[in-house]
This record gives sequence, C-alpha cells and structure tokens, in this order.
Amino acid sequence: MKIKQYHWHHFFGGVALFLLMVQLLSGTVLTLFYSPHLNEAYASVQKIYNELAAVAWVRDTHRWAALFVTLAVIMHFVRSFLRKDYLVRESKTLWLTGVLLFLPLLGFLVTGFILPWEWRGYWFMEMVPNYAGEIFLAGPFLSDFLLDVFTLNRAFVVHVVILPVITLVLLDIHTLSKIKRRAGGLFLYLREHSLLAVPFLLVIALLAYALPMPSQDPAIIPMPLEGEYIPTAEWFVLAFYVPYLYFKGFMAVLLGFYIPFGIFLVLALFPYFLGAKGGMVGDKTRREPHVAGKRGVLLRILAPLRKIIGERALVKTAGAASVFLVAMALFVPLYTVSYASPTMGCNSCHNLTAGIRMGLPPPTFKDRVMNPNLKDNTFMVEHWFYPQVVW
Ligand code: HEC
Repeated sequence: MKIKQYHWHHFFGGVALFLLMVQLLSGTVLTLFYSPHLNEAYASVQKIYNELAAVAWVRDTHRWAALFVTLAVIMHFVRSFLRKDYLVRESKTLWLTGVLLFLPLLGFLVTGFILPWEWRGYWFMEMVPNYAGEIFLAGPFLSDFLLDVFTLNRAFVVHVVILPVITLVLLDIHTLSKIKRRAGGLFLYLREHSLLAVPFLLVIALLAYALPMPSQDPAIIPMPLEGEYIPTAEWFVLAFYVPYLYFKGFMAVLLGFYIPFGIFLVLALFPYFLGAKGGMVGDKTRREPHVAGKRGVLLRILAPLRKIIGERALVKTAGAASVFLVAMALFVPLYTVSYASPTMGCNSCHNLTAGIRMGLPPPTFKDRVMNPNLKDNTFMVEHWFYPQVVW
C-alpha cells in the first residue's frame, strides 16, 4: 500500500467520504425493514428492536455514523478554512461544492429524524415548516407548501433517493472525479482511508452496541429527562431552534435563521469575493496553501518548542492546534446549548400505556387549529428540552 498517497490535510474529508459509504450501506439494509406509512413506520422500527437484533445494531450504526459524518465534515471544513483553500483559484468550485454539501447533509439529518414517526419524528416534521415560516415575506408560502407536500412516503423518497443523488452529484464535482483520475482510483482511495477511518468505525460500532438509541420502547418507560448529555446528530439541527428557548420574535429568527444563513452565503461565496481582488493567489499559495495558513499567532506562541521538535513538526503542531481550537470554538457552544436535549425521555409520557392520544402522533398532525401548540415555536422548543416543566 502506498502510504505516501495519504493526504493528511484532507484526512477528515476522507473519513467523511468513508463514513458516507457506511451510511449508504447501512441505509440500504434499513430500507428493507422500514415501512414508510403513517400507521406502520413506528411499528416497523419497533419490530427491528424487538425481533431483529442485528438490524437494530445496523440502525444504531446508521444513527451514530450520522453524528460522526457531520463531525468529520465540520472538521474537514475547519481544516480547509484555516489552510485558506478558498484562495486557491483553481478550486473555487471545490470550495463552493464543499460548502453546498452542507445542505443535503442537513436534509439527511432532518428527514432521518422524521422517518421513525415517533414523537420526536413528529416534532421534527412540525418544526421544519415552522422554521421556514419565519422567513421574511416568503415564510407563509413556504410553510404552507411544506405542510401540504409532507407525507411520510415523500420524506422517505427524499431521504433515500433525492438527497443521495444530490449528494453524489456534488461529491463527484467536489472530489470523486478527481480521485477517480488518480492512480488506483476510488477503490485504492477508499482502501487507504478505510485504514484511517478504522478508529472512527470502531467507536461507532461500539457505541451502536453499547449505547443503542431505540425509538421509544413501551417495555421500558424512562424518566422525562433521560438521555441528556448523549451527543446525537439531532444537536446539529436543534442548534437552529435553540434561540427560541431564550428569545421571542425577531431576535429568535435572527439568531436561528438570518445569521446562520448569512454566514453560510458568505462562506459559500468566499473565494469569489477574495478572488475578485486578484493577485492574492500567488504561486506559493497554490503549492503550499497549508503553510501559508499557519504563519499566525499560534506559531509564535509555540515558537519555544522549535528547538526541541524542529521547524517542520512545529508548523504541523501549530496547524493541528489551530484546527483543534477552532473546532472547540464550534463544538463547545453546540454542546452547551444542546446537552440538555433528552434523547430518550419523550417516551416517559408519550407511550401507549398513557393512551392512544399520548402514545402515537395524532392523525390530526399538521393541523394547527386542532393542535395549536404545533405552531408555537417557544412551546415546541421548551417542550423538547424541558418537557416536564412546560407540561
Ligand atoms: C412530562 C411528560 C412529557 C414528556 C416527557 C414529553 N411530552 Fe410531549 N407532550 C406532553 C403533553 C401532556 C402534551 C400535550 C400538551 C397539550 O396539548 O397541551 C405533549 C405534546 C407534545 C407535542 C405537541 C403536539 C401534540 O400532539 O400535542 C409534541 C410534538 C410533543 N409533545 C413531542 C414531544 C417530544 C419530542 C418529547 C421528547 C423530547 C416529548 N414530547 C416529551 C407530555 C410530555
């Protein structure tokens, strides 16, 4: 195996690609056991847990891998950002497609949460039109449209056909076509990265085994707040709703939508702003953008280490440290706002022993006249984080 071919500065990108393959495989298995009908979805997921232990493990793998794919993609992004990849003229499309890939990723997360159609899925489904509904002018139209078109079947088709196709096309432009041209092609690339991804795979496989996150299981009724602190893929989506815990009206929309959306647009178009200035893309940057990216504060702070570990290792350490620091700056707030999300607690009240109305998402879902709580974002978000208080 040609170890030299490793591109360490794309390490997390490779891991993300590999984990996406894991998602493709485990997802394919799950489609064989899942039934996308309102009356059968939840039962089909329950059946997996009650009767098909191996499939349940596959499902938990799919769930945990969703968390790690997202983490890997974010790390890959931070790394590329700090290395100033956006300054490389030839890779404008690379940058743009990379940032755009965040969209199908979010789409996967949201539709994925909805599919089991327990109370969490129901909650997520209702929050998507609410979120879109807050957008200036277009909001009411978007919200009505999303409510009208939603069926579980369609969410399923989006999750297993439309989003995978979009992702594949973007990924192809982003990286696959380049990898395929390399010696050894995609197969060699995946084989090499499978080695690098082994630690992640082990962690995921173990977590899926030791810490399953079953959809509500009526046999074991949890406490309302059970499952706090367990990091889940939901966190990445919940973060957009958290402002409703602390703010009302425009402030919440500003923090939950306009600012993230603005940041997203700026990031996507970054190379286009900077490229316009011209002249910034020197040949040096082209050849070694990763070195150009590290001549910063950290290098100066760590300078005393130069004598001990040498220049090369110093630059590498400073690079790794800056990635680590930026990643922490992203994850610590995410953790602080989301850790209180009770991953297992909904079943405490929403279970069939409490009656059909509390046990299953009502047939009147979407109906904001019958269920006025649904359109109250503050109630919905507080109910998610602190169900016992709101009720
Ligand atoms: C302490 C008990 C309790 C827990 C725990 C709980 N809920 Fe609820 N939930 C209720 C009650 C009671 C209502 C009905 C409130 C009302 O109609 O005023 C409700 C209503 C809802 C609604 C509003 C729509 C409807 O059909 O009434 C959604 C959505 C919901 N819960 C989702 C969740 C989710 C997701 C969780 C877990 C994060 C959760 N609930 C945890 C008791 C609970």
